[in-house]
Amino acid sequence: MTAQEYKERIDRALAEYFAPRGEQLPTAGLAEAMRYSLLAGGKRIRPMLVLEFCRIAGGDIEAALPVACAIEMLHTYSLIHDDLPCMDNDDLRRGRPTNHVVYGECTATLAGDALQAEAFGTILRSSLAPDRRAACAEDLANAVGLDGMCGGQYLDMIGEGKRLSETELDAINTRKTGALLIAACRMGVHAAGGSERQLEAAARYGAAIGVAFQLRDDVLDVTSTEAELGKPIGSDAQEGKNTYVSLVGMAECEQRILCLTEAAKHALAEGFTDTAFLDKLADSMAVRKN
Ligand code: IPE
Ligand code: IPE
Ligand code: MG
Ligand code: MG
Ligand code: MG
Repeated sequence: MTAQEYKERIDRALAEYFAPRGEQLPTAGLAEAMRYSLLAGGKRIRPMLVLEFCRIAGGDIEAALPVACAIEMLHTYSLIHDDLPCMDNDDLRRGRPTNHVVYGECTATLAGDALQAEAFGTILRSSLAPDRRAACAEDLANAVGLDGMCGGQYLDMIGEGKRLSETELDAINTRKTGALLIAACRMGVHAAGGSERQLEAAARYGAAIGVAFQLRDDVLDVTSTEAELGKPIGSDAQEGKNTYVSLVGMAECEQRILCLTEAAKHALAEGFTDTAFLDKLADSMAVRKN
């Protein structure tokens, strides 16, 4: 499949999971808030990684679709909470007013919470073999919990307004962004029942694109436009965030993105042969505009 075809398949599946189930339900308002952010678009990079890693590890993409949708639910939860006034306090996401701006802080918080639970439920209810479901759920839990995204968000928050070292900034970003991207790659391999060697190569690819991804995200927060990015510009400076741009400068960021993208492709080749799609995906992520 092309990237566009993957995206359309994922979008369709997500819409099916959260199709309105009778607006007379007392929880319809919460369901609407969940749908609002989940179906607002987004690049769908993480689910795409799940599906393509599954494919090149010899698995069935359709069987892995619930796992792909699950990671996008989880990611969307992280975005809703990341934008809250108590966190980054942003009012635009995926080109629309943020969840709390539309539905209020309480509903936005609950929409995130419910999306997280639905993510795990979607994996556990899938038709994959039980050991594959368990492996996917375990990797996702590790990527999100104390040592993963939530831990990274905590470090990001307590680092605001302080000048951190590069090691400290790396420690934030490998958790808040890298962990979920690594998990996406590994979960694709798990869904296919792939080998240890493939899991290792997938993790190394994910780790390299993960750092490159946050480097680009930090650069775009300075150089892009709100219209192109679909989220506010200058949010990091406003919140006193430590970013790669503030720490090492723009030119060094660009250099590192190129270097990491090559490293990602190199790592991939150690576990897989059919790498054209993921090579190209790494290249396009390196130069992405949103
Ligand atoms: C944004 O993620 C948050 C970070 C981890 C930097 P994406 O850039 O993947 O956001 P969407 O899903 O395309 O909206
Ligand atoms: C947050 O990083 C990553 C998440 C865990 C959501 P950012 O705060 O830089 O993400 P954006 O720029 O708001 O998308
Ligand atoms: Mg943030
Ligand atoms: Mg943010
Ligand atoms: Mg950012």
